[in-house]
Amino acid sequence: MADEPVQRGLQDVVALESQICFIDGKKGRLIYRGYDIRELAEHSTFEEVAYLLWYGRLPTSKHLDELRRRLGGLRELPEPVVRVLAEMPVNANPMDVLRTAVSALAVYEPAETQPGSSSIGGALRLTAVLPTILGYYHRRRAGLPPPEPNPALSHSAWILNAIRGTEGSELEIRALDVALILHADHELNASTFAARVTASTLSDLYSSVTSAIGTLKGPLHGGAAERVMELLEEVGSADRAEETIRAKLSRHERIMGFGHRVYKVEDPRATILREWSRRVGQAKGNLRYYDLLRRIEEVVHAERGLYPNVDLYSGSVYTLLNVPKDLFTPLFAASRVVGWTAHVLEEYQDLRLIRPTAQYVGLTDLSYTPIEKR
Ligand code: COA
Repeated sequence: MADEPVQRGLQDVVALESQICFIDGKKGRLIYRGYDIRELAEHSTFEEVAYLLWYGRLPTSKHLDELRRRLGGLRELPEPVVRVLAEMPVNANPMDVLRTAVSALAVYEPAETQPGSSSIGGALRLTAVLPTILGYYHRRRAGLPPPEPNPALSHSAWILNAIRGTEGSELEIRALDVALILHADHELNASTFAARVTASTLSDLYSSVTSAIGTLKGPLHGGAAERVMELLEEVGSADRAEETIRAKLSRHERIMGFGHRVYKVEDPRATILREWSRRVGQAKGNLRYYDLLRRIEEVVHAERGLYPNVDLYSGSVYTLLNVPKDLFTPLFAASRVVGWTAHVLEEYQDLRLIRPTAQYVGLTDLSYTPIEKR
């Protein structure tokens, strides 16, 4: 065991069997429960994809209506959690707010947090309520009245309404819906792995999602879209792209929105979001982000041969939807919660404590020196 090669970052390590999501990193394919992401992004809705990920099959109209009705009815926050949110500083990191609110919610909803349960009740509840948490926090810091949960709205319309107070146009709702579909699951990404590690100890669903939110927060995972928009601000205009990117690469800085642990070609989600960035930009008469991103893509590819990932274009779509930068990662969570919970439910069905080993490279034969002699 001592001489086993260490796979840093568990790269290429097959940790478990799953029927939820398949990534073909060489061909740039992403499959949810057998269905190609391109078909799902073209034809389905976020609710339909949530059903697919949770139940393993596409819903009938009756099942979909039922799911929509249940999600719509679970958007209210309990009063004590509203009070927890009201206590938070207005300049808090929204991911900290989300994590804390989910953790607090567990205290008030013990029935949904039964470890090992195969019920999707907790998954529905968390999916329904994350936008409400975001809406409460964001509208409070903006000095606006709290969001008013409307059970009739689709999930995407509700997210836009909870944040902005209006759900907006069909195009805006569809753009967000597609972004949510694309973010709903991604095999054993770091946050899903964190959720499964937590569930594998037979801990509960809300604890697993709390772990996942903390893991998604990091810039190498969920935080990249926000950094991409900062990069656009720094670059400023397409004619400055080459100079700025080259300077960054020569300082060995990472260019956010590029590269991927699994994809060796273009991330198929980036292909779809690029088109949505153009579509929404065109509808709003603002193709500045799209043009700038296209130019940055050319430079990064020419300099390093790197391809864009999902985060390169998502921030431009969200910005055009008037979603503030620091809510991009929380939006990611509001979609990925479906994947996290699907994986936790799968973990419970085939439970095995996830506990790898480390190769010890420290000392072993030191003798203890009393403190007064050190
Ligand atoms: N910008 C510049 N160089 C990059 C890069 C990027 N975005 N992504 C990878 N590279 C380079 C690395 O510096 C490394 O070069 P080296 O071998 O000369 O040291 C090489 O490509 C391999 O990178 P590595 O860090 O081993 O790949 P990884 O699988 O660990 O990294 C990411 C995957 C996602 C962490 C990495 O691509 C990254 O940091 N991307 C930016 C953050 C981001 O967009 N995250 C969202 C992911 S969906």
